[in-house]
Amino acid sequence: MTAMRLIVVGLGARAQTWLKVIAANPDVTIAGLCDPDPAARDRLAGQYPKAAIGADLSEVVRAGGDAVLLCTPPAGRAAQFEVCCQHHMAILAEKPLADDLATAGRYVAMAEAAGVPLIVGLNFRYLAVTQETIRLFATGTVGTPEFARFTYERWRDGTLGHLNKYPLTMEQPMLWEQSVHHFDLMRFVYGAEPVRVYARTFNPSWSMYRGDANVSAIIDFDNAMTVNYQGTWQGNWDRLGFEWRTECTRGVVVQRDMFGRLGYARRQDTELHDVPLPAHVDWITDAAALLASFVKTWRGSTAPQCTGHDHLRSLQMLEACVISSGRGEAVELAEIRQDAIKAG
Ligand SMILES: NC(=O)c1ccc[n+]([C@@H]2O[C@H](COP(=O)([O-])OP(=O)(O)OC[C@H]3O[C@@H](n4cnc5c(N)ncnc54)[C@H](O)[C@@H]3O)[C@@H](O)[C@H]2O)c1
Repeated sequence: MTAMRLIVVGLGARAQTWLKVIAANPDVTIAGLCDPDPAARDRLAGQYPKAAIGADLSEVVRAGGDAVLLCTPPAGRAAQFEVCCQHHMAILAEKPLADDLATAGRYVAMAEAAGVPLIVGLNFRYLAVTQETIRLFATGTVGTPEFARFTYERWRDGTLGHLNKYPLTMEQPMLWEQSVHHFDLMRFVYGAEPVRVYARTFNPSWSMYRGDANVSAIIDFDNAMTVNYQGTWQGNWDRLGFEWRTECTRGVVVQRDMFGRLGYARRQDTELHDVPLPAHVDWITDAAALLASFVKTWRGSTAPQCTGHDHLRSLQMLEACVISSGRGEAVELAEIRQDAIKAG
């Protein structure tokens, strides 16, 4: 089978992981590399002598390509979407698809009108811990999920050299860059859609971010699940605090690390039962599975996963958090969807 000729757009932090993952996948070759920053291009030029390299996707695409991996910041992707749609290239876009819901909705509509597959890089869906959590719920090991607490407490020093810089000046960096993964996981794992969000976003006094680094939210889902969420990028201890505990009718399911450590307990158990998970390389195994799924979608051999259309539902949750925080009251997701339909 012919390999997919992939153009990587945006050669910053995230692209470095993707380049490793692509190199290990025989079904994908790098056809082009694109970044307006000459230093970013120069760093890679010697390693990819056969790839077309340029500042602008409209130039790079002239050398040919089947698909594009968008690793650019979420703001300002319109021109890239136009080129992909004109040239009928499948798109794998890093999350979040855009930095506001209306723009993301336009991208989804553009791709649908052009008949171009649009997949969003929601790599955490592909972790074994995520798949095993779904299996635990499906087998009813501890009964049916009813409510949960999801905490993600991180000291994220946004000035570190290996991290992107644009979140430092975003209005809602935690929500749009990080919580988007968590909200997507909730929808995916519980197989449910949100109906109501009551949220407060704010910034601690010591925050290095201009916008809000904290998100607190109570989220109600259409299967009667309620999730109590706390996320921060400015938690004041440089150790990641991750815990996702789901209360079920006969016990609990607890994930204690963002890449693994899954356990469950029935009500009277004295300890958690560890759920064995396959060997895993953080950031690599998950992205490799996502890329494999993207290739299958491009070949037409599997139904697309993580579609742009589906992603809009997670972006609606972000928008609902911002509106709820501003109003100081709960927001129905139906209101956000209605607004999106009017705007679209
Ligand atoms: N899924 C994950 O786990 C994960 C992890 C990190 C980042 N990301 C996402 O990846 C995306 C990129 O993040 P990053 O950390 O690599 O940011 P970054 O700032 O490190 O890199 C972005 C790169 O895009 C380039 N760029 C900007 N405009 C461009 C354009 N028009 N055409 C081509 N290149 C352009 C910049 O010059 C820069 O080199 C974001 O959407 C981010 O949320 C996802």
